[in-house]
Amino acid sequence: EKGTYPHFMLKEIDEQPFVIRNIISKYKDENEDIKLDEDIRQTMLDADRIYIIAAGTSYHAGLVGKQLIERIANKPVETHIASEFLYNMPLLSEKPLFIFISQSGETADSRGVLVAVKELGHKALTITNVPGSTLSREADYTLHTYAGPEIAVASTKAYTAQMAVLAILAVDTAKAAGLKMDFNPLQELAIVANAMETLTDKKDKMEKIARDYLSVSRNCFFIGRAIDYYVCLEGALKLKEISYIQAEGFAGGELKHGTIALIEEGTPVIGVVTQHHVNLSIRGNMKEVVARGASPCMISMEGLAEGDDALVIPHVHEYLTPLVSVVPLQLISYYAALHRNCDVDKPRNLAKSVTVE
Ligand code: F6R
Repeated sequence: EKGTYPHFMLKEIDEQPFVIRNIISKYKDENEDIKLDEDIRQTMLDADRIYIIAAGTSYHAGLVGKQLIERIANKPVETHIASEFLYNMPLLSEKPLFIFISQSGETADSRGVLVAVKELGHKALTITNVPGSTLSREADYTLHTYAGPEIAVASTKAYTAQMAVLAILAVDTAKAAGLKMDFNPLQELAIVANAMETLTDKKDKMEKIARDYLSVSRNCFFIGRAIDYYVCLEGALKLKEISYIQAEGFAGGELKHGTIALIEEGTPVIGVVTQHHVNLSIRGNMKEVVARGASPCMISMEGLAEGDDALVIPHVHEYLTPLVSVVPLQLISYYAALHRNCDVDKPRNLAKSVTVE
């Protein structure tokens, strides 16, 4: 099933533009409007607060989902790590809605929360790539991410698909609430799909970045601010799990509160910037690490780029930049793992779906 691809991961990275176009067609009605289950729409409207529960990469999609739903639909959202939720349970609002994000729909940590909140009588919606999975069957509602089977252990296309569906859901809720909306996610996602393609066509560039920065290094930092910070968390997770390089994603401003002590001569620091309002500040953080010897690799979006940036990604709507900025990070991780002779599709100690708590 890999066809001409050496690994499922590379195939799945390349499939992302098609997945996004597929999502657009599945969530579009004959008037080019969003098509969504009426009960889900009503449940979103009725909720006074949304609790997103997920693990790993799906948790990272949930962090972006919080921003999307809060900014677009003006509804409060908390995103929680599934395995921690029951120990550090927040005070719940009067009419909570739980959204479970899970590629496999089988993650035991998330299921533990689902069972507990159902017992409390709360509503649950699962966003999953596998309708009919446990989390899908046991929730009240399901939204399908339509990414097709994801075989590589490292999640790629499921993550971007989850964020696309969250953006559509956020706008649908906003519209149903009568909010004025000049962001059309179906149109903007089509631009995202093209931008992804531009990047998957530039694999040489990503391979070179991996070779230059990551062939021998022991560690790597990813820094960003605002929504870019969440993408940095995902970039670091990808790199860790398949290349075994110790990697961390940091909020740019947090580095100086401790982690900057780890920067030494040649430490790779990958910066991500797609948001105008943090461009100056993240570049300031980059200068701080460079002054301590770091090798800087800046990935910026068109319009924000400066002369020595390592990679410039095409411009997309500010709400949707994570879907595009993650693509080079996925590819850089892939090539870093290849250069280090790692088993890309089946990294050590990991399983595709984690069915134990
Ligand atoms: C990372 C990865 C894991 C999963 C996590 C949740 O590449 O694949 O972090 O994202 O185990 O899995 P799902 O989404 O199936 O609940």
